[in-house]
Amino acid sequence: MNRQLSLLTPSGHLTLGNLLGALRPMAARQDDAYYGLSDLHAMTSTHDPALLRARTTEMATLLLAAGLDRATLFLQSRVPAHTQLAYLLECTAYTGELNRMIQFKEKGRGNDSTRVSLYTYPVLMAADILLYRPTEVPVGADQRQHVELTRDLAIRFNNTYGAVFTVPAVVTPAAGARVMDLSDPTRKMSKSADAAGSVFLLDPPDVVRRKVARAVTDSDTGTDAVRADPDKPGVTNLLEILTACGGSADGLTTYGALKRSVTDAVVAELEPLQKRYAELAADPTYVDGVYRTGAERCREVTAPVLAAAEAAIGI
Ligand code: ADP
Ligand code: NA
Repeated sequence: MNRQLSLLTPSGHLTLGNLLGALRPMAARQDDAYYGLSDLHAMTSTHDPALLRARTTEMATLLLAAGLDRATLFLQSRVPAHTQLAYLLECTAYTGELNRMIQFKEKGRGNDSTRVSLYTYPVLMAADILLYRPTEVPVGADQRQHVELTRDLAIRFNNTYGAVFTVPAVVTPAAGARVMDLSDPTRKMSKSADAAGSVFLLDPPDVVRRKVARAVTDSDTGTDAVRADPDKPGVTNLLEILTACGGSADGLTTYGALKRSVTDAVVAELEPLQKRYAELAADPTYVDGVYRTGAERCREVTAPVLAAAEAAIGI
């Protein structure tokens, strides 16, 4: 089976969308799986050090609480091979290639106080991937260009210095649950802390209730108003959340009833996770132990790749 590799950026709070779209499938695939928290990627724009550390710990603890305890869980900054290989790849990449990255164009180009790390982010991402030699990388549309760059860099390095890297195929991920923002169901639920339409995994029941109660629906008052329909994105989203959380829409005819069912299902889904989170968070040294074990396993896997790249490039 193909090695699993996935990095999450601790730039906000994990949401119900992350749980249904990422954490659940990750928990189902934990053999030969490397799941990282990319704290280095979280520093590519203005950041608060204490907040970064707190969010990273929160996210790691949530991943463990969600059952990700068999996979190798690691913190990117604790595996120095990532930045070491990134530099070798910076010596392989061209500025012309990075200038073409759409995400950089949208987020930072033309602003004199854009961090250099935002510009070189795709190169660090290439190192994140190539170190683990996955044969396939499933990516959503927003990261596709970066993985194409990863392939280009791997191929160029191999052709110039010798066959060091496995060139991964870019694959479209299996369509998983996609949870939309409750206040704007045309965009996906996001983990940025100020997103009013996001349900965060640590939201207490009353907060979940309030957010779901405020969810955008529509003005349909017909007896069949509660139905999935492309013209009813808010209602469709609530129905999908309800089903994904083990609830049923049978017999629901009003949006009020739908929202009560969604709230109950989401609260029931989050309750065991939050309980486990509280237990794990009670021991502040626990996550650090997980990082240490993770870093050791990552070092075993990545050291030969880094060593081969260094030897090939002449250092
Ligand atoms: P990042 O990639 O910066 O860590 P994201 O939160 O965008 O942050 O994505 C993390 C993972 O969670 C990805 O696998 C993504 O597909 C999934 N994910 C994020 N938001 C949603 C959502 N609203 N619905 C379903 N899956 C989501
Ligand atoms: Na993403």
